[in-house]
Amino acid sequence: MAVNIVKGTRDIIGEEANAFNYIENLLKQICELFAYNEVKPPVMEYSELFVRGVGEASDVVRKEMYTFLDKGDRSVTLRPEFTAGIMRLIIQNKLLATSELPVKSYYVGPVFRYERPQLGRYRQFTQFGVEAVGNDSPEIDVETIVLAYTILSSLNLDNVSVVINTIGDDESRLNYKNALKAYFAKYLDQMCPDCHTRYELNPLRILDCKVPDDQKIVAGAPKMKDYLSDAAKERFNKVLSLLDALEIPYVVDDTLVRGLDYYSETVYEFHYVSSNGNDYGAIGGGGHYGKLVKELGGPDVAGVGFSFGVDRLYSVLKDDGLLPEGLDNPIEIYVMPLGEASKSLAMQAASTLRLSGYRVDFCFEDVKLGNMFKRAERKGARFAVIIGENEVNNNEVIIKNLTSTEQITVPFDKLVSKICCEMGDECCDGECQCHKES
Ligand code: HAM
Repeated sequence: MAVNIVKGTRDIIGEEANAFNYIENLLKQICELFAYNEVKPPVMEYSELFVRGVGEASDVVRKEMYTFLDKGDRSVTLRPEFTAGIMRLIIQNKLLATSELPVKSYYVGPVFRYERPQLGRYRQFTQFGVEAVGNDSPEIDVETIVLAYTILSSLNLDNVSVVINTIGDDESRLNYKNALKAYFAKYLDQMCPDCHTRYELNPLRILDCKVPDDQKIVAGAPKMKDYLSDAAKERFNKVLSLLDALEIPYVVDDTLVRGLDYYSETVYEFHYVSSNGNDYGAIGGGGHYGKLVKELGGPDVAGVGFSFGVDRLYSVLKDDGLLPEGLDNPIEIYVMPLGEASKSLAMQAASTLRLSGYRVDFCFEDVKLGNMFKRAERKGARFAVIIGENEVNNNEVIIKNLTSTEQITVPFDKLVSKICCEMGDECCDGECQCHKES
């Protein structure tokens, strides 16, 4: 019996794989424009990193991590997010001491969370994100939002909502957590067992509870905005006025707290519902973290960042017809050997064309010529290069334009220059007839 794929994971193939590359390449280019550098941390880290970094009160750490003992009995976890690993990378490689601050990094790769699979929610998915570490200003928070917004605009996701809030400085959050404890204490016996744990570990996490009856209780809970210190309010107002000046549209949502424990001050998310009504949840989110680096053994510096779910970006782009044409990667040239004796020269033709930068496929099967043409058409080829016995004997090739159906025979060493001219490229060696004519 065949072995199936692991539940909650999926195979990304064909056009979808090409679309992922398109999205990731575009995101990388924009990150480079903003002077972020790519980093590639390992997929697994010691579990303690996430327990201390993401926080033991978060659902991610409590319920969703793929954690196992390795053969040396060390507890290892497949990353459930990037941020903690990037902090470890920055601290361990002493990047804060040896680089200009902030250290600005971007990353892309698989992330693992044991969640209930549903629309836009997988157990292995791809995140793309950035972290800027070593600066605590409202300006750097805003730069990350502008970067994310530029990415979304470049993908033509114009109907995105930027949802923003502040969860304040340490003092604000301490006062708020105390207010939440006092409030939830009255209802705790009616709430789910998870909320009892959240109550003990971090009452802020009760606000994320998905149980409908608990949500009714959450609706009446104190609001963060009433517990903000003057300094936190002032900082948030600065963020908002910078966004206004940069003409980034946003909605302030005072219930947004984000589900990971490391956040402080500015938090934000990007929401997008596709035109067919599919709601994949947040396509991205992030925020400021004041104490995470110190918590993980580094210096006392702040950071800010966000991550996009590439799978969700792909889904909304696909739903709304916003993926560019040609992602099925058509070939340019199909090389067709006719008979055993022509295979060697045909392979040389394919190699030469590929080395000149053409996307070339080769017919490996001994099928009839008509069948080869059908294959060339299905693959989107513009030209066929045909090599039979005569061509081998004369060291020639036939080039057939599959659109006009015209064909010419040229010496093997003129193959590339002739194809260049036919394609309208500028790499022609100048010796061919059409080049001289032009
Ligand atoms: P997060 O909100 O947990 O934040 O995840 C970021 C994005 O990953 C989400 O907005 C969503 O698009 C995608 N995502 C999350 N879970 C799934 C899933 N099960 N299936 C598919 N996509 C999913 C973080 O991970 C933070 N590290 C972001 C950050 C960076 N904060 C500061 N810096």
